Amino acid sequence: MCGIIGYIGPKKVVPLIVEGLKKLEYRGYDSAGIAVVDGEKINRRRVKGKICNLEESLRNEPLSGYYGIGHTRWATHGRPSEENAHPHLDCTGTIVVVHNGIIENYLSLKEKLLKKGHTFRTDTDTEVIAHLIEEYFEDLLELAVQRAVQDLRGAYSIVAISTRDPNKIVAAKDGAPSVVGLGENEFFVSSDINPLLNHTKSIVFLEDKEIAVLDTGRVKFWDYKANALDKRVEQLAWNSLLIEKKGYKHFMLKEIFEQPQVIRDTLSGRVSLETGQVDLKETGLSEKVIKRVERILIIACGTSYHAGLIGKLMIESMAGVPVEVEYASEYRYKDHIMHERTLIVVLSQSGETADSLAAFKAVKSESLPSLAICNVVQSSIARETDGVLYTHAGPEIGVAATKTFTAQLCALALLSVHISTIKGIKSKEEIKNFILDLQKIPHNIEEILNDARVIEELSQRFVSYNHFLFLGRWVSFPVALEGALKLKEISYIHAEAYPGGEMKHGPIALIDEKMPTLVVVPKDRVYEKMLSNISEVKTRSGFVLAVASENDREISDRVDAVIRVPSVNPLLSPFLTTVPLQLFSYYIAVARGADVDQPRNLAKSVTVE
Ligand code: F6R
Repeated sequence: MCGIIGYIGPKKVVPLIVEGLKKLEYRGYDSAGIAVVDGEKINRRRVKGKICNLEESLRNEPLSGYYGIGHTRWATHGRPSEENAHPHLDCTGTIVVVHNGIIENYLSLKEKLLKKGHTFRTDTDTEVIAHLIEEYFEDLLELAVQRAVQDLRGAYSIVAISTRDPNKIVAAKDGAPSVVGLGENEFFVSSDINPLLNHTKSIVFLEDKEIAVLDTGRVKFWDYKANALDKRVEQLAWNSLLIEKKGYKHFMLKEIFEQPQVIRDTLSGRVSLETGQVDLKETGLSEKVIKRVERILIIACGTSYHAGLIGKLMIESMAGVPVEVEYASEYRYKDHIMHERTLIVVLSQSGETADSLAAFKAVKSESLPSLAICNVVQSSIARETDGVLYTHAGPEIGVAATKTFTAQLCALALLSVHISTIKGIKSKEEIKNFILDLQKIPHNIEEILNDARVIEELSQRFVSYNHFLFLGRWVSFPVALEGALKLKEISYIHAEAYPGGEMKHGPIALIDEKMPTLVVVPKDRVYEKMLSNISEVKTRSGFVLAVASENDREISDRVDAVIRVPSVNPLLSPFLTTVPLQLFSYYIAVARGADVDQPRNLAKSVTVE
């Protein structure tokens, strides 16, 4: 939530920061702003709404400066408005700050600062940071920041500049991400690597309670006690082409179509058909550790939680280990009864979700092995767990998760086989067949995507409905949950998902001709049961659209419309049944004129509680 960027170097700072903010816009788009230093002066521009509004304002009235900072906001404290847009100034107008996260004790800090005579102009928590830095300023900006951060509680990443100590950018973080880019005679600081990809491959991730000081010639790193740190420089593997639309109308559509390749990439180098084995040594979890595991706890939010629910069924079926899946935002506040042989798996695309990180920290212990399944390399969660299994999905820019969901399913399928092999649960033959089926999934998805036009046409019949019911059982229930979430978040249509068998316990009362039902009904162990649920809907005048297997001859007579997917190993059907639901939501949202890549009120990484 919120994207921040800073640049110091020879390039033109304003276009560079605006370009960088566009790449961070998926993190929030309630308002945007920029501040650049021009000699003795800080020039600032802020606008309500998206970066394109900022661009327009800068086109009409350009800003000049040599280095600076920028921000794209997802509002938490203070409504989205120009006054509340970052960057925020201190009383003297010589210190300016951008911030991502929440300062939990800002009210008490504000009270103290008000008593000392500071004047506040916004409703944000961020403004206290500018005034605190002002309060502590003597001669060096980094020392003032270092003192100010001692007073802050909460999760934050901040970047500050000041004309009182010019030609310098100071960044600090605790609980929200910050990455420093090292170019030739130029330095960047950003919320993630996307804005850096066009400029440098050399980066340094700031850890919690660290400070970076970027000046015209070098970067130095400190801990919060002002001790110098020797930080490791890493080389980026992603390139900037990965964050272009490549001719697709929206990132979301491009990302849906990338799924076959993403799954190939996530499998690549990890499976061998010859040996019938999965190699996950990269996770750092030894065979000895896996052998001891008797229970798995998966912690996740949103779409990742849905992937976790499917992962549970795959792991329980393939590896015979009981799995619990918990919403991180709920789990962190529960009483934690930990089995001593538990493997904790944190599932998070961004690796930055505040609740997932906090829930993990609440149960983290030296005696319990932990694994992150993340897409963003070196993200906060990936750095917190013992091991990491990366999904090789590449950057996902569309706010609605699509390719990272199927990549997570792929990682969980690999994990299930890995544990099964080490524990000797399934025979070599069974494992080999499972891997073979898994390797065919990219091709199966391509078959669905080749027929995207059919789904587009079908979806047009549903554009004006305002309520949807999604039904599924067993592995298809989480798919139904995910389908309903996609529809809600990008087309703002109310959608509910239920396990088919739960219908008669209440939701069936909702059924009428105004509420279509989307049933996920591949040929599997619950197929017959789903047919009964479909009849229950049909007899109550409900319109039923089914996502069904291609070899299902019966279904057409039972429902009003069918989308076909290839017939596969039932445990792997969610890879396929999800794709039509993604396309269905996408085409409905486009037809309703919704902003598909940047749905209202949302942001890609939820780095606040
Ligand atoms: C929905 C979506 C969100 C995320 C959730 C968790 O399309 O993207 O529900 O899945 O915010 O995010 P990560 O996986 O980054 O922890």
